[in-house]
Amino acid sequence: MLNLILFGPPGAGKGTQSEQLIYAYNLKHISTGDLLRAERKAGTELGIKANEYIAKGELVPDEVVVGMVRNFMKEHSSSKGFIFDGFPRTTPQAEALDNLLSEFGAKIDIVLGLEVIEDELVKRLLLRGETSGRADDQSEETIRNRFKEYQTKTLPLMDYYTKKNSYVGVNGMGEIDHIQSSLREEINKVL
Ligand code: C5P
Ligand code: MG
Repeated sequence: MLNLILFGPPGAGKGTQSEQLIYAYNLKHISTGDLLRAERKAGTELGIKANEYIAKGELVPDEVVVGMVRNFMKEHSSSKGFIFDGFPRTTPQAEALDNLLSEFGAKIDIVLGLEVIEDELVKRLLLRGETSGRADDQSEETIRNRFKEYQTKTLPLMDYYTKKNSYVGVNGMGEIDHIQSSLREEINKVL
């Protein structure tokens, strides 16, 4: 199996880069944000509850997202590997992911951190908000809160994965195709 995490703040390009990577390496894409929005759209209890957090730019409780990821992985257990996008967001989520993967006899092979400066992130998110219909991309206040959550709860994972020797930072500014090449270069080193 090949399991990788696309790491980075909101608007870094995790979803965009995942689209091409899943084809190149025949992987399954797990975007917890997309899964939560699908639950909301379906009007499930989980989706309605999650939306209270999403609307404020706060993180949904660990056990909820971990449960969703566990279900997704079990449903796609014959996959050649996964790209985790927007997950893990906290240390307990990262620990739970390690445990989940060990059930598959697998591990995180590489964590690719997309590095983008904050001014560029805000620009990208507001632009995306014009077409995505995502309310959390349309309010600068919510965007700032998402960054705050990222800084305090998610950024410590950089250290978590650096200690495991799996973190690699990649410049996330510039042309999409160029960033894609940089990512593949790093992935190919661990294949
Ligand atoms: O990953 P994405 O930016 O699509 O996530 C959108 C929102 O979904 C986040 O701001 C957060 O409220 C929620 N989310 C979460 N935990 C995750 C992924 C997403 O709370 N692991
Ligand atoms: Mg995304």
